[in-house]
Amino acid sequence: MFRISSERSLVAFSIIFSSLVCQLPHGVWSCAPADRIALSRFSSSLGMEIDGWPGAANYSGDCCRWLGVRCRRFRAYHDLRVVNLDLAGLGLTGPLLPSTLAHLDELRVLNLSRNSIHGAFFLPELLRMPRLRVLDLSQNSLTGELTGAAAAPGSTSRLVHLDVSFNMLTGLRGPSVFLGLPRLRKFSAESNQLSGLLPRSLSSCSELTYLNVANNSLHGTLTGFNFSRLARLRAIHLDWNQLSGPLPASLSHCREIRVVNFRRNNLSGPVPPAFRRLQALSFFDIGVNSITGIDQALRTLQHCRALAVLILTTNFHGEEMPGNTTTMRGFPSLRLLGIANRSTAPPIPATLAALTALQKLDLSCNELAGEIPGSLAALTFLSCFDVSHNRLYGLVPAGGQFSTFPCSSFAGNPGLHGQYCDGNGSVVGGAPEYDRALVTVGSEMFRLPFWLGMITGVCATMIIYVVVVPYYSDND
Ligand SMILES: *[C@@H]1O[C@H](CO)[C@@H](O)[C@H](O)[C@H]1NC(C)=O
Ligand SMILES: *[C@@H]1O[C@H](CO)[C@@H](O)[C@H](O)[C@H]1NC(C)=O
Ligand SMILES: *[C@@H]1O[C@H](CO)[C@@H](O)[C@H](O)[C@H]1NC(C)=O
Ligand SMILES: *[C@@H]1O[C@H](CO)[C@@H](O)[C@H](O)[C@H]1NC(C)=O
Ligand SMILES: *[C@@H]1O[C@H](CO)[C@@H](O)[C@H](O)[C@H]1NC(C)=O
Ligand SMILES: *[C@@H]1O[C@H](CO)[C@@H](O)[C@H](O)[C@H]1NC(C)=O
Ligand SMILES: *[C@@H]1O[C@H](CO)[C@@H](O)[C@H](O)[C@H]1NC(C)=O
Ligand SMILES: *[C@@H]1O[C@H](CO)[C@@H](O)[C@H](O)[C@H]1NC(C)=O
Repeated sequence: MFRISSERSLVAFSIIFSSLVCQLPHGVWSCAPADRIALSRFSSSLGMEIDGWPGAANYSGDCCRWLGVRCRRFRAYHDLRVVNLDLAGLGLTGPLLPSTLAHLDELRVLNLSRNSIHGAFFLPELLRMPRLRVLDLSQNSLTGELTGAAAAPGSTSRLVHLDVSFNMLTGLRGPSVFLGLPRLRKFSAESNQLSGLLPRSLSSCSELTYLNVANNSLHGTLTGFNFSRLARLRAIHLDWNQLSGPLPASLSHCREIRVVNFRRNNLSGPVPPAFRRLQALSFFDIGVNSITGIDQALRTLQHCRALAVLILTTNFHGEEMPGNTTTMRGFPSLRLLGIANRSTAPPIPATLAALTALQKLDLSCNELAGEIPGSLAALTFLSCFDVSHNRLYGLVPAGGQFSTFPCSSFAGNPGLHGQYCDGNGSVVGGAPEYDRALVTVGSEMFRLPFWLGMITGVCATMIIYVVVVPYYSDND
């Protein structure tokens, strides 16, 4: 009896003690009533109860202890103030009424990404929070335009990072919100339904390092956009839009740029010779456009000494692969070269062998004729090689890495034969069934999904290193 009750009192004591210890600071400092009311209103405007927000429904409780809310003590205030609101991926639904949050005047970070918040989105209202630095509304169902003058005329926002990607925003017309965002460093509106031109006012964000408006319906040319004011730009993603006209030569003023992705637009004309000044450029994808002048493109880009990934696929319609006259020297860092599809005729240039760091080479679907230069066997780092669907003939080189490439690399070249593979993509000598299965799997892996995966992987890595890492290290 005695033992049990002593244990009980011990347990009771420790519960009381630990709850005292936990509660003491909160008892002394709890969240400011204005912040609690703002959060409660936000919660009721969503029309749902947020799990982990006890008391929000009747405007009571210490909001600093609510899920995703972080407070800080400032000397200027008697109470704790909400500085960080992270409600990402909590299954929130309902409309976003920015006016409910606008009173959180010490809020720095608002993260509502990966929810199902819908309704019209009006950025200027959210920008009324004077200290807001990070606003992440990505992966919701917001509609409306990405426009609107700053809330108070002449007031400028401290916003550094704006992410509205994967929503259903439509317009970029009307007064531009970018004029009021002089500190913006990272802007992503990827995968919305934005139409119109790339807003010229974006060039007033002179601190911008990361710009991603990929997978929208932007059209028109880039010639009117002056990139020289974006001297800090490190990555630009305009892929999967309907942009036309020439590549913007003014991009050559962005000396820190590492990633340029213009894939799948309707861009035409040559690669501007000024691009040779892009000494930090490491990823360049202009695949699936109507770019002309493969010779000039390679002559220009070979001066970009950091270039590791170069994708020129499906351009240069009807042009010949550069022959012996073009030096394929330079490119000291090139790891992945894709020139697949649509440049016709002569043999594979033996000078490709000068690209000694090359790891992946994709020359598929090019109507290339002739033999595979034996000198390519000297590319000791080459691990992926694809010359399928051309008109190559003769012997597959035997030495070096060539014995390691799957037969699918050579498929679709009926004239080709070799020690292991023939030009029909089969293993020479009638391989047993299980080998054939292996070859098929290999060919699936090596086709488009492989390259997409490879490119996405490289992209992701670059985004992490180029954008995310400097961003956080700059801030902390
Ligand atoms: C609010 O609700 C909680 C629990 O639902 C209750 O304990 C508290 O008394 C309520 N406060 C007011 C002011 O109604
Ligand atoms: C918002 O939260 C999501 C999920 O936790 C996270 O992946 C994302 O990086 C956050 N956004 C910012 C800007 O930190
Ligand atoms: C492009 O955006 C649409 C929605 O607008 C989305 O369904 C699709 O997955 C996106 N594509 C890519 C490649 O991100
Ligand atoms: C672009 O801006 C730079 C400096 O901001 C200026 O010197 C240059 O003349 C502008 N170019 C055009 C074509 O407007
Ligand atoms: C692509 O651009 C050309 C002009 O350069 C234009 O004639 C054509 O209609 C455009 N195609 C699309 C799909 O926008
Ligand atoms: C390219 O040069 C190699 C030797 O350097 C020569 O054998 C080949 O015939 C040349 N090809 C063309 C198309 O001139
Ligand atoms: C080659 O170009 C054609 C026509 O633009 C396109 O339909 C096809 O998908 C492209 N093939 C590859 C492998 O990119
Ligand atoms: C490749 O296939 C074609 C047609 O299917 C056939 O005529 C040719 O003999 C095959 N080549 C080899 C090396 O098996």
